Amino acid sequence: MSSEPNQTPPDADSEIAQLRQQVLDGWESEADFFDERWGDQGDEFHHGVFAPAAERLLGLESGARLIEFACGNGAFARRLGRQGMSVVATDLSPALLAHAERRTETISDQAVDISYRTVDATDERAILNCGGPFDAAVCIMGVMSMPLLRPMFGGARRVLRPRGAFVVVTLHPAYATSGYTFAKAEPDDEPHGLTIHRYLSRYATHGVTNTAQKQPQVYFHRPMSELLGDAFASGLVLDGMEELPAPEQPMAEAKLIWNMLPEIPMAVALRFRRV
Ligand SMILES: C[S@@+](CC[C@H](N)C(=O)[O-])C[C@H]1O[C@@H](n2cnc3c(N)ncnc32)[C@H](O)[C@@H]1O
Repeated sequence: MSSEPNQTPPDADSEIAQLRQQVLDGWESEADFFDERWGDQGDEFHHGVFAPAAERLLGLESGARLIEFACGNGAFARRLGRQGMSVVATDLSPALLAHAERRTETISDQAVDISYRTVDATDERAILNCGGPFDAAVCIMGVMSMPLLRPMFGGARRVLRPRGAFVVVTLHPAYATSGYTFAKAEPDDEPHGLTIHRYLSRYATHGVTNTAQKQPQVYFHRPMSELLGDAFASGLVLDGMEELPAPEQPMAEAKLIWNMLPEIPMAVALRFRRV
């Protein structure tokens, strides 16, 4: 993520409300752009790296019932729906959910059991209103947009059945949301690594995930100890993890900088469990 860090720790309630509104405005105004970019299956990282990792950690079979947080335009919900799972797919952005519904209605080869709902994952009561119990919960690339994580972890724990799993896939806090620059021997060289200059403090940042994006959005960096700490404080335990580099051979035409750093995981998939 390219970004302009500012020093905003989201602490006060009014500040959280303001940040949440900025997040919503950002996704609403860019919904058409992202829907087109993600398409039916998500971008190359989503369908080639993030979704397979989430599936491996979820380890679910046809008939399982899931809740998804921050589902975007529904790529992962459709992927699970096509495998015979029943999905309650939720997101903060009505505009992205409208794209998700439209894309799901056009699945003509089979019936899928997916219902979409507008849910703010930073509001635990809204999550509890989604029903349950669910066999599993999932959130792919959503936590960077959330100023608070405890409501989602707490809500997930309460709607999961005992032993149910909650899989979170996120940009890696140590390498991809921290303050970093790509390390190069000479300015025109390909990068050989990262120089990380900021990691331990939580902060809000304005950034873009795609250079064609018109408006920078608000993202939140938090160190791994804080991300895990919020899950543990909500009564979840960690029992699975994968660190995910970008593929060395990119699936799209353009080679991205992360494709050149196969020893550095740009993302991490975490499996929490209700015990
Ligand atoms: C990077 S997109 C990921 C979408 C989808 N999971 C994917 O991987 O394609 C981040 C998503 O988080 C959603 N989001 C941001 N804040 C949220 C919140 N508080 N509650 C629920 N969803 C939120 C946005 O609307 C957006 O759809």
